[in-house]
Amino acid sequence: MRKQIVAANWKMNGSSELVHQLVPAVKESVASLDNAVEVVIMPPSLFVSGVKAELAGSPVAFGVQNVGRWKSGAYTGELSAGMAADVGCHYALVGHSERRQLFGETDEIVAEKVARVLESGLTVMLCVGEALEEREAGNAEAVVCRQVESALVGLDAAKAQYVVVAYEPVWAIGTGKTATADDAQTMHKALRARLSDMGLPANEMSLLYGGSVKPDNAGALFAQPDIDGGLIGGASLKADDFIEICRAAV
Ligand code: G3P
Repeated sequence: MRKQIVAANWKMNGSSELVHQLVPAVKESVASLDNAVEVVIMPPSLFVSGVKAELAGSPVAFGVQNVGRWKSGAYTGELSAGMAADVGCHYALVGHSERRQLFGETDEIVAEKVARVLESGLTVMLCVGEALEEREAGNAEAVVCRQVESALVGLDAAKAQYVVVAYEPVWAIGTGKTATADDAQTMHKALRARLSDMGLPANEMSLLYGGSVKPDNAGALFAQPDIDGGLIGGASLKADDFIEICRAAV
């Protein structure tokens, strides 16, 4: 049985006030889910310690949205995977399309970051996804498989338990346009097949869908055989919506 995961990516949103309001509500609701789903909160890094304090004694995990590609050194403004591990993070997001598009992260940089996260003992949540033009040109699967291969090339199969892949079609992020459950399933199935071709235990790896997941579409998406939960942006900033999405994954 694969782990079902629902992860919140707050992006550059939130405040100390949101941490103190939303996190206790999530903590309380998740307690009634009986550990059937792994819930993860990834706030902006400045709020990680506040989230950690609010989550004390809870199985809800937390993490960062990005790490630097280096271990340490003169990289002003960067945060390392080792630092995230040091403060108790469980997960680090790598390769989000906003990082790829707005910050020039190439496949090569994403691969370096994946390596840093795994060296630090965290679980990496690797984001992949095609742009609208790539989908319209019929290249969606090729693009997504290339992103996964370049990020995970040479990965030791024993490390696959520390890798979660999130398929987030770029055209579905923050747009209100979700991939249909069938289209998302088709991509997840192809991804799983590619991971298996790479010699990884693909059937044991959790593959998440992200892109305008809301309470009203989460159930249909999570019911697909190859979709093991979701990576949630906008809806993760509202406690009621996020909790409902977590329940849909049980
Ligand atoms: O990482 C989550 C994300 O990119 C999806 O955002 O707002 O479409 O749920 P949203």
